[in-house]
Amino acid sequence: MTIAGIDLGTKPLLLAPMEGVSDSAFRKVCRRYGAAMVYSEFVSADALIRSVKGATQKLFIDPEERPAVVQIYGREVEPMVEAAKIAAQVKPNILDLNFGCPVKKVAGKGAGSGMLRNIPLLLEITRAVVEAVDVPVSVKTRLGWDHDHIIIEELAEELQACGIVALTIHGRTRSDMYMGEADWGPIARVKANPKIKIPIVGNGDITSGKKAFEGFEKWGVDAVMLGRGAIGRPWIFQEIRHYLSTGEEGGTPSVEEQFETLLEMVQNNIDKLDERRGILHSRRHLAMTPLFKGIPNFRPLRIKMLRAETLDELLETLEEVKPLLQEIV
Ligand SMILES: Cc1cc2nc3c(=O)[nH]c(=O)nc-3n(C[C@H](O)[C@H](O)[C@H](O)COP(=O)(O)O)c2cc1C
Repeated sequence: MTIAGIDLGTKPLLLAPMEGVSDSAFRKVCRRYGAAMVYSEFVSADALIRSVKGATQKLFIDPEERPAVVQIYGREVEPMVEAAKIAAQVKPNILDLNFGCPVKKVAGKGAGSGMLRNIPLLLEITRAVVEAVDVPVSVKTRLGWDHDHIIIEELAEELQACGIVALTIHGRTRSDMYMGEADWGPIARVKANPKIKIPIVGNGDITSGKKAFEGFEKWGVDAVMLGRGAIGRPWIFQEIRHYLSTGEEGGTPSVEEQFETLLEMVQNNIDKLDERRGILHSRRHLAMTPLFKGIPNFRPLRIKMLRAETLDELLETLEEVKPLLQEIV
């Protein structure tokens, strides 16, 4: 399967853009475990234009991550074009436009999924960005604003006509936020539309090999994107690849390897961001990883681990956790 000439192999699994999660350190290990392509956290167009440090930092791509996508969001044509040109300077393999973020401070201002309430503007932005940059442009969005406005089938055709190279669809509306189950029916209908020629990436609730398999076989998408299922568990890509090639569960690395991987992410985050932000980014992974699940009476250590404010404190706590892993092998 290719997108814009990028060979992603068969049944590709993509790492979703996730603010505060899909940083360079995480993306790198996800690629190592078999993610075919990785997406950055979304970057605010306005913040990029103002050269806000946090935004500019998000553009960093380690060569080992490639193929890598940078995602931007905004709500006006000119700033989005300007931000796209800035982002294009790091030569992302693809530049993605976010028309799906549901959070109030983004969608409430008309950006992210807020764009689903102004389709002419959404299309104008897409057309203008496609024209302005020489990197391929893709879009990630939801089914529509709410269940009375499931517009993705028409929108997909209109977006394709703007010249995008791929469309990612999260099977929820803005009003769903992250609740309920993702609805893959409309995603499958977009894919089955003979007028749609661009690759369709399906997204929502993929947490196992079986679900990924269904994404490809039942719903027919070209690629499957994983978000929350990969937090604290970058090796899920290896597990799903194992399932897709053998039809059986497996591919889980040893607990030692899982531990070392998390540690590598902590260290790498701190090197790339700074101590405070590096720890904040690592916390989500440490809080959600399945690795520590079976440790008896883990609660006090868990609290200590998630409250650590310096690298020394965190490493010290992780040293205490390490021997306990033997108890769950
Ligand atoms: C913590 C978090 C941050 C997210 N940030 C972004 C983002 O920056 N850009 C984006 O397009 N989607 C973002 N999303 C949505 C995910 O990319 C994805 O569409 C959604 O989580 C559904 O996929 P999943 O069920 O596999 O998690 C975020 C989701 C989470 C949980």
